[in-house]
Amino acid sequence: DSVAEMRDMLRGARRIVGFTGAGISTECGVPDFRSPGSPWLKFAPIEYGEFVSSPAARQEAWRRKFAMDDIYGHAAPGRGHRAMAHLVGVGRMSAIVTQNIDGLHQASGVAPSRIIELHGNGTYARCLECGLRHELADIRTRFEASGEPPMCVSCGGIVKSATISFGQAMPEREMLRAQAVAMDCDVFLVVGSSLVVHPAATLPLIARQSGARLIILNRDPTPLDEAASLVVNADIGDALEPLAQLN
Ligand code: OAD
Ligand code: ZN
Repeated sequence: DSVAEMRDMLRGARRIVGFTGAGISTECGVPDFRSPGSPWLKFAPIEYGEFVSSPAARQEAWRRKFAMDDIYGHAAPGRGHRAMAHLVGVGRMSAIVTQNIDGLHQASGVAPSRIIELHGNGTYARCLECGLRHELADIRTRFEASGEPPMCVSCGGIVKSATISFGQAMPEREMLRAQAVAMDCDVFLVVGSSLVVHPAATLPLIARQSGARLIILNRDPTPLDEAASLVVNADIGDALEPLAQLN
C-alpha cells in the first residue's frame, strides 16, 4: 500500500525536507483551518491592514487569540512531530519547513536552526514598530486589565502576535531559506497541509522541479496531488509513527 511505499522511499532517501501544515497537530488537539467544524471557519480572519488601522480589530484579534490559547496553548507534540524529530536527529531530514505557528516542532526537540517557520510563531508577540519581543502573559495581563489592545512599552508602537496574517508580507529570510532547502533535497515530504495557501504551497513544486521526489501525506486531496510522486491519504500519526525507529 501507499504507506509502505512511503516508508520505503523515506528509508532510501538521504536528504529529506519535511513540510508541515496544521494536519500534523490535530492529534495534539490543535484544530486545523479547513476541515469541517474548524473554529477558524466561524469568523473571517482579521487581515493585517485592519489590524494596524483599527483598534477595534486589534481588540477582537487579541480576544480571539487568548480564547484559542486557552483551548490549545498547552498542546504537546504528537506522533508525527516525534517521528520527524527522530529523522532530523539521525541526519536524514535536513530541515522542517512549517506553516504552523504552534511551536510543536521546537517542543519535540528539533534544533531551532533546522526549523523554518513560514508563518511566524504564535507563542510570543512583537512590536511592529521597533521589533521588541513581548511575552504573551504580559500582553494578556495588560489587555485584560484595560480592555485595550496593548501598545509597545518601549516605543508605543502596535504589538502583534508574531504570526503572519493575511495581507502581511512573508518573512523574507525564512522564505529564501525554504526555497534553498527545497532545491537541495532528494525527497520533499508534505505532511498535513491542504496546499492552498501561497506562496508556501509553491515550495513542493520548487522541490519537484529541482529533481526531488514529492510525497504528499494528507487525509484529503490537494491541488498538487497530480505533481506528486506518491500521494498517501492516511492518518499522519499512524503513518509516521514507525519511522521513529528508522536509523
Ligand atoms: P489546512 O487546515 O488548510 O489543511 C490541513 C490538512 O490536514 C487538511 O487537508 C486535512 O485533510 C489534513 N489533516 C488534518 N488532520 C489530519 C490527520 N490526523 N492525518 C492526516 N491528515 C490530516 O491547514 P494548512 O494547510 O496548514 O496561514 O493551512 C495553511 C495556512 O492557512 C495556515 O498556515 C494558515 C491558514 O490560513 C496563516 O495563518 C497565514
Ligand atoms: Zn516598539
